[in-house]
Amino acid sequence: MDNSLENYVKIDDDFEGYPLHLFCVPKHYEDDLQSILIPKGCVDDRIERLARNICEELGKEPTVALCVLKGGYKFYTDLLDKIQALGRTSSVSMPISLDFIRLKSYHNDQSTGEIQVIGGDNLENLQGKNVLICEDIVDTGRTMTKLLSLLDKYKPKKVRVASLFVKRTTSSIYRPEYVGFEIPDKFIVGYALDYNEHFRDLSHICVINEQGKRKYASK
Ligand code: HPA
Ligand code: MG
Repeated sequence: MDNSLENYVKIDDDFEGYPLHLFCVPKHYEDDLQSILIPKGCVDDRIERLARNICEELGKEPTVALCVLKGGYKFYTDLLDKIQALGRTSSVSMPISLDFIRLKSYHNDQSTGEIQVIGGDNLENLQGKNVLICEDIVDTGRTMTKLLSLLDKYKPKKVRVASLFVKRTTSSIYRPEYVGFEIPDKFIVGYALDYNEHFRDLSHICVINEQGKRKYASK
């Protein structure tokens, strides 16, 4: 692969997305969305290529695929499906075991953000293994940086992060190894990404509008 090529799909700041009437969205969200930024089919096709890139690097070695819930669950299942499909049709087959974690940020009196890992098997199991973290979106990267330093304590062999989206923000401190799409600094929903737990049941990646933000604001 030519390493000088950008290895992600870049969605430009001036791309407004597609009008809703060109695709199908659930009736209950029709008035709450501004546009469709990335149709589900395009997400699928990009994940297929990420699967290939990941197998080319990690293939053949047993890997623990670690899903960061809840937002990462669709990306995780679709990515693993594609990795398994590759294993059936090519010479690269990656033995995978599964694990799931949820992260909770909490602040102590000094308000230095810390993260707490909830669920997951005993993280001691990661010792000496390759670990593939699957995340929906990396924004500033603060949470991922903390997760990585926490996992490091369990002495994994190699840790790689696949994030379906990264946001272009000026305060970004971390870049995952595998990135699906780099998107403008807008709030996106759909494909398991939520706004206060709403919109996970929307297949396309959409930009929420002001009405949607008001309607689903946390009380
Ligand atoms: N959408 C959903 N969750 C998020 C986002 C977003 O744009 N950024 C960080 N978490
Ligand atoms: Mg996430």
